[in-house]
Amino acid sequence: MLARRRNGETAKRRVCLLFSGSPSRRLSLVMATLFIATGCRQDMHDQPKYESLEATTFFPDGRASRPLVPGTVARGQLREDTHLYEGKVSGKPAETFPFRTDLKMIQRGQERHDIYCSPCHDRVGNGDGMVVRRGFRRPPSYHIDRLRQAAPGYFYDVITNGFGAMQDYAAQIPVRDRWAIVAYIRALQLSQNASLADVPEAEQRNLRAGEAKQ
Ligand code: HEC
Repeated sequence: MLARRRNGETAKRRVCLLFSGSPSRRLSLVMATLFIATGCRQDMHDQPKYESLEATTFFPDGRASRPLVPGTVARGQLREDTHLYEGKVSGKPAETFPFRTDLKMIQRGQERHDIYCSPCHDRVGNGDGMVVRRGFRRPPSYHIDRLRQAAPGYFYDVITNGFGAMQDYAAQIPVRDRWAIVAYIRALQLSQNASLADVPEAEQRNLRAGEAKQ
């Protein structure tokens, strides 16, 4: 430790010696150091480049940022499949889902529905959510005939573009999740209009036993 400090001190003294001597010698040394330190350096923050939206005289329209070539599509944003992205087939609400629905998807739809839709539509879809109880306009129940007959593509469209007083959820809910919510709404509709014959045999027995107890 002691030896190291001594060595450090000697090095410092040597540098001081280098800069000692006559004032003119000292000055020229300082100038030379400054020149070496700054003269051949280009700061990164001061590059010869245009920043976004900066003006230029180079292009006739005076803009350094060039407009996109017409028809440009960003990678991953080609949305040609209108069934999937707009819920429409030949300009009409799609009567089918654009991909196979399964239990996992419906469960995902239930989760998303309970997050995004139940505050107004409630968890069953009667339109008695907490926000409605606090005064927001009451939405129609999912279980009215008109909405029971509505095509899956119609629900997808309501989520994507909103409907009357209801805002759209295009920004919050990705495309596949919107379809998952639609699948779950279909399950909810079935649940509220099911007959005993729709229930599996074993469950039918449970239901009958429960009824007998009451
Ligand atoms: C902030 C409250 C609110 C939320 C959250 C909300 N809705 Fe609505 N929804 C409404 C209201 C209000 C209406 C009725 C609008 C009107 O008639 O002006 C409506 C209408 C609807 C309709 C019926 C359209 C028709 O043809 O009558 C559907 C279907 C629907 N919403 C689905 C959804 C789904 C799915 C979600 C979740 C992604 C959702 N809503 C989230 C308030 C909400």
